[in-house]
Amino acid sequence: MNLETPALALAVLLTAAPLASAQAAKGDPATRASALLAQMTLEEKIGQLCQSFVFPGMQVDEPVAKGQLGSLLFVMNPAEANRFQRLAMEKTRLKIPLLFGFDVIHGFRTIFPAPLATAASWDPALAEKGQEIAAREAAAVGIRWSFAPMVDIARDPRWGRIVEGAGEDPYLGAAMARAQVRGFQGKDLGPERVITSVKHFAGYGAAEGGRDYDAVQIPDTQMWNVYLPPFEAAVKAGSTAVMAAYMDLNDVPATGNRWLLHDVLRGAWGFKGFVVSDADSVKSLESHGYARDAADAAVRALHAGVNMEMGFGGTAFGATLAASVKAGRVTEAQIDAAVRPILEAKYRLGLFENPYAYEAKVASVLGAAEHRAAARRAAERSAVLLRNEGSLLPLARGAAKKIAVLGTLADSKIDTVGSWVFDWQPADTVTVLAGLRQKAGAGVAVDYAPGVQVLRSSPSIFDLLRKEPRAAAWSEAQAKDELAKAVALAAGSDVAVLVLGEAQDMSGEYASRSTLALPPGQQELLEKVVATGKPVVLVLLNGRPLDISWAAQRVPAILEVWYPGSLGGEAVANLLFGDANPGGKLPLTWPLNVGQVPIYYARNLTQKTEEHAKRYWNEPHAPLYPFGYGLSYSTFAISNLKVDKASASVGSLQAGQPITVTADVENTSAVTGDEVVQLYVHQRAGSASRPIRELKGFERVSLAPREKKTVRFALGQDELRYWSGSERKWVLEAEAFDVWVGNSSAASLASSFTLTK
Ligand code: BGC
Repeated sequence: MNLETPALALAVLLTAAPLASAQAAKGDPATRASALLAQMTLEEKIGQLCQSFVFPGMQVDEPVAKGQLGSLLFVMNPAEANRFQRLAMEKTRLKIPLLFGFDVIHGFRTIFPAPLATAASWDPALAEKGQEIAAREAAAVGIRWSFAPMVDIARDPRWGRIVEGAGEDPYLGAAMARAQVRGFQGKDLGPERVITSVKHFAGYGAAEGGRDYDAVQIPDTQMWNVYLPPFEAAVKAGSTAVMAAYMDLNDVPATGNRWLLHDVLRGAWGFKGFVVSDADSVKSLESHGYARDAADAAVRALHAGVNMEMGFGGTAFGATLAASVKAGRVTEAQIDAAVRPILEAKYRLGLFENPYAYEAKVASVLGAAEHRAAARRAAERSAVLLRNEGSLLPLARGAAKKIAVLGTLADSKIDTVGSWVFDWQPADTVTVLAGLRQKAGAGVAVDYAPGVQVLRSSPSIFDLLRKEPRAAAWSEAQAKDELAKAVALAAGSDVAVLVLGEAQDMSGEYASRSTLALPPGQQELLEKVVATGKPVVLVLLNGRPLDISWAAQRVPAILEVWYPGSLGGEAVANLLFGDANPGGKLPLTWPLNVGQVPIYYARNLTQKTEEHAKRYWNEPHAPLYPFGYGLSYSTFAISNLKVDKASASVGSLQAGQPITVTADVENTSAVTGDEVVQLYVHQRAGSASRPIRELKGFERVSLAPREKKTVRFALGQDELRYWSGSERKWVLEAEAFDVWVGNSSAASLASSFTLTK
C-alpha cells in the first residue's frame, strides 16, 4: 500500500477494510487492547515489549516484519518510517502498527532553546507552546512518542545533562514538567500530538561527582521532597510513559527498582501508562552487578515494572522472555499486563486507523514561519541578563558604528542549537553573528574574528547524525595569530560583543566536566579584549553555569542565552539592541567556582546563622548569583506584601482553603519589561529540619512603564506539606512559617503566618 500521495491516503481512509478483526473491535482503547491481546501469541506479545534503535547502517526490517519489534527509535525520515510501517501493517499477522519514538527534546526541525533555557523563562506557557510545536513537527514525519520531558533535578553543574532539565528546584521543575506534558500530548492526543515519557526515573541528576551514569545515593526525604515532585507532576498531567533511569539508586538499579517503578509510580501515584527502559538499561542490570545474566535482567526489569525495553542491537526481553515464561520465571499474565498499556497507547494515538506519516504535508509543517516566530520569542524570553553596569545594554542605536563580534561560538550553527538536535537544518539556523548583521542596519559595520577555537569532545555515536563537520584544529601559530586578530578588531571597534561558552557537545549526555572554567583559551581572549578598554558585552552560550567570577567583576554587560535554538541569533540581536527586554531568571544557583558544587539555595541551615557560620576558610560560600536572579532593562518595585490570614488551621488547608499571599509589582522605569515575582516559604520548626527557604509560587508579569499589578499566590496543602524524615510520611504541621516575595531567592520583603491544629 502506498500512502505517499494525499489523494491515495484519503482514499484509503475512506475505503480501507479493517486490517484485522481486532482492529474493528469497538470501544475505548482499553477494551480494544484487551480484545487484541486475546488474539496474540506469546511471541507477538513479547514483540510489543521490544524497541530498537535505527541508526545508520542498522538493519531491522526482518524483526519488524516478523512482529518482533513494537517500536523503533531514531527514524526521522517519513518515507523510511512509512516503509517500516508497511512492513508491520502488511507482513505481520495482526497488523499492529509500530510506534516511532524519538528524542524530541527542544524542537524537532525548529529548534527551541534548550530545556534549561526554557526553565529560565519561568514561563510554563512558553514551554507548553514550544512542545506543542515540537510535537506537530515530529508527528508530521510519523514520530508519535517523545522521550521527554527530562525532569531530573540537578544541583551539580558538572553533570552534563543539567542542560536537559529545569535546574535545581522541584517547584519550578514540576511546573515545567506539567507544561511540557500538556504541550506534547494536548488534551486528546490528536494527530498532531505525541505521547511523552517523563525521564529519567529517578534520581539520575544526583550522579556522584557530577559524573554521568554514576551511582546515586539519595535518602528518602530527598527523593520525596526534591527528586520525585517533577515526575509526579508529569504523571498527574497524564504522561503516557515513563523512562527508567540508567543508574543505581541506593544500590538498586533504577531499571530493576520495584520500589520506584511499582510502589511509587503505580502505587502512590496510580500511573496507568507504560515504562520504557533507557537504552540498553535492562541488559546493563548485569553490568551493575545486579542481575546474573540477560535472562535474569529481563525477568527482574519486568518484575520491577518495565514494560518496554529500549535496545541497541537486540533486547534481553526479545531474546529471553519467552523461555522465562516457559520456565515459570514469569507468568503470561505479567506479560499481558506489560503489553496492555502499550497497545492502549497505540489505540489512543489513532495508529491503527492512521499508521502512516502523511508525507505530502511534511514540508509545510517543518520549520513553518509560525514555529520559527515562536522559537525566536522563546529564545528572547529565556535569556538572563546577569550584569549591566552603566546600562551598557541595550546598545544605543547609532552610537556603535563598529561592532566587533568575537568568539567561534558567535558563528557556529550547531552551537547555537545545542545538544539533542538531529533533524535541525544548518540553513535554518541564525547565529549570533548573522543575527547582529541582519539587525545592525546600514552604516553599522559588524566585523567578526573567531579569536579562539572551542574544543569538541571525542567522537561519539551521534557523529553519525552530525550535519556540520568538525573543524580541523588550529596549529599553535594559527591560534596565536587568530587571538591577535580578534584583540586588534576589538581595539578598533566601538563595542565588542564577545560570545563565549561551551560547544554544543560539552553538555548533554556523556558531557560531564570536572571543571566549570571557560574552555581553554577563552579566558585569555576575554582578558585581552577587556584590556583594550572598549566596552565589552559578554554573551554566554552554554548548558551549565560557568566560572565567570573574573568577568563578573570586570565586564560591564553579561547576557546568558544558553543554547538559544534555530532563531537564537535573531533573539540575541533583538535583546542587545533593546527590541526585546531580558526577563529570564536563573533556574539554578550560579556558583562562584567548581569547588562550591553541589550548591543550591533550598538547603538546611544546620549551624548558626547564615552570616556567622564560616563555610569555607578561604573564600565566601555565597554563590556568584542566587537562584531566581536576573536583571532587566526596566526597573521594578515589589511592595505591599500581604498574607490574608495570620493563622489558619491545618484542617482548613486540607479542606482546600489556602492561605493567600499578595504583593504589588510596579514597573518603575520608562521601558516595558517583565518581572518574575517569586514566593518563598520557610517552616520555622517541625518534626524535621526544613530548608532556609523554598520556592512555592511564581509569576512572570509583563508591565508597561509605570504599570502596577497585584500578584496573588495560594499556599495550600500541596505547597506546605513535606515528607518528614522522622515521621517517614507526608506531614502538614501546625507551625510558624516565614514568607518572602521578591525577584530572586534572596527576596527580602517578608511576612509570616502560623498553622494551628
Ligand atoms: C538517554 C535517553 C534517551 C535515549 C534514546 C539514552 O542514552 O539517556 O535520555 O532518551 O538514549 O536516545
